[in-house]
Amino acid sequence: MDEATTLTPSDLAPRTSSTRSIAEALSHHSTDTLKHYYDHWARHYDADVEAEAYCGPTMIVDLLDAVAQRTGVRHDSHIFDACCGTGLVGRTLHARGYRLISGCDLSEIMIDKAGASQVYKRLYPNTDLTQPLPDDLPRNFDAVVCCGAFIPTHLPATALRNLIAMTRPGGVVVVSIREAYYTTDGFEALLQTLVHEQGLSVLQTKLSASYLQNARAHYLALQVA
Ligand SMILES: C[S@@+](CC[C@H](N)C(=O)[O-])C[C@H]1O[C@@H](n2cnc3c(N)ncnc32)[C@H](O)[C@@H]1O
Repeated sequence: MDEATTLTPSDLAPRTSSTRSIAEALSHHSTDTLKHYYDHWARHYDADVEAEAYCGPTMIVDLLDAVAQRTGVRHDSHIFDACCGTGLVGRTLHARGYRLISGCDLSEIMIDKAGASQVYKRLYPNTDLTQPLPDDLPRNFDAVVCCGAFIPTHLPATALRNLIAMTRPGGVVVVSIREAYYTTDGFEALLQTLVHEQGLSVLQTKLSASYLQNARAHYLALQVA
């Protein structure tokens, strides 16, 4: 095959340290190496994603705000930020007026940064959302948000079941899913199963929307039955 036909615009873009960091995060094949990667990346994560025009946190909170009234979510509701990382979503929620924010993450160093932002009421470090939920995690949040973690080598589609299990009946789950990963990891089939099995409803979506300068994402707001 002619080499020119196999190149994409992002292949042709200059490789900066921030694009390399993001690409490298997608290349891990065990939870342990991923955790170590984030422990190391924590120091310059915020600067790197800002350099890549990362707008996931704003998009997620916009979608939560858009469905809040219908789902009884208010500024004094309990919000859970799954895979909170350094706290970009928590800070966005706080700036919009939400005050009772908790979160979890796999990486202790990422979550230390989130703690330093002082917008989280409670944080759960060393939490692996690919595993059964730990007993100390509440199961009655009004809203559970998860931004930037449904991407290759991070959370599989099936981790949606954990997010739903943490949400009160009638509450809302708002997630971002990298566009290409949505098709390859079977999100559509799982969502159909959850609609039939658990009465989940898809409230609102933003499809193929802005995410990073070189990647788009689907954003879904789901209501738990
Ligand atoms: C791309 S960052 C997104 C962080 C934050 N939500 C944001 O939007 O900036 C992905 C985060 O998911 C966490 N993570 C990856 N796999 C995880 C897992 N199995 N369980 C919990 N957290 C995980 C990483 O430690 C990292 O902080």
